[in-house]
Amino acid sequence: MSVKHIITLRNRQGMQIKLSDWGATWLSCVVPIAEEKRELLLGCQTFEQYQQQDAYLGATIGRYANRIANAEIDIAGKHYQLTANQGVNQLHGGKLGFDKQLWKIESQSEQQVIFSLISPDGDQGYPGELKVAASYTLTDDNQVIIEYHANTTKCTPVNLTNHAYFNLDGETNNVLGHSLKVNANYYLPVDANGIPSNDLLNVTEDDMDLRQLRLLSDNLFGSSARKITGGYDHAYLLDSSKPVAAQLVSSDKKVTMNLTTSYPALQVYTGNFLTHTPNRHNGVYANFAGVALEAQFLPDSPHHPTWPQSSCFLEPGQTYLQQICYQFCIN
Ligand code: BGC
Repeated sequence: MSVKHIITLRNRQGMQIKLSDWGATWLSCVVPIAEEKRELLLGCQTFEQYQQQDAYLGATIGRYANRIANAEIDIAGKHYQLTANQGVNQLHGGKLGFDKQLWKIESQSEQQVIFSLISPDGDQGYPGELKVAASYTLTDDNQVIIEYHANTTKCTPVNLTNHAYFNLDGETNNVLGHSLKVNANYYLPVDANGIPSNDLLNVTEDDMDLRQLRLLSDNLFGSSARKITGGYDHAYLLDSSKPVAAQLVSSDKKVTMNLTTSYPALQVYTGNFLTHTPNRHNGVYANFAGVALEAQFLPDSPHHPTWPQSSCFLEPGQTYLQQICYQFCIN
């Protein structure tokens, strides 16, 4: 049995986050609000439960977040069959993605931890040995900054993200009373399997506009795009001229989270299939218990080289470097 560790980071505001080397997972995020200590992340009680659930709670996702259609890619005329783990498609890096690996703890201090992982050539079908580092830093102004570095020995697609689910009310309610803003003019329509079904569409199509703060419950099932996926489960192409990618506000308005990122896109997933996922309190979560805001490349990007974003392929000699920052403001 491999030994798993829990690492706690603390800042001068009394904020505390917990992480594990198993999946380089973000386990917990507690902020003080007057006398209250509020947990802002969904999570399980035990490691066994983390290993059983399939919601990817707080995990680091890789080698390739989101879906790759038919679990296959072609690179420079060579065909690679990847492990399929959602029907014929691959989701979140395959059967044994980075979320299911024990990472090495490279360094650890009061406000930072760095995890590393070596993904061998052929891992889940991908070409090249990929060396990855994921660092978590908790700053004194309540920012959680995640940075990903990677290098490869062969050209490979790379799309690393974190799959934290936020509930800024402290898990007292579902998140449908939260308001969300996403600075994006375009989104990707998907089919019932989450595979892009068309080119990018203007957010005004099918009522997918989140450019102003909007209640998640607002017309949730009224849009045909959201009906297919049982809620939001869509990638938005971020407007890079806007400094903040997304803003999430708790139902009681006491907590605001601002998300900034170097990535071109953001997957908004309202936890449409969370039911039965073990929670921290001897029970299970219901659908919509949390919302995941996953900064990443657009889904299935290896098959769509003309989409307006930088390439998701990493070449030998290049360094992959991406950042996601969540700042928690108490009102
Ligand atoms: C996907 C969902 C999926 C969830 C958990 C999200 O990133 O967009 O479709 O159900 O991860 O696997």
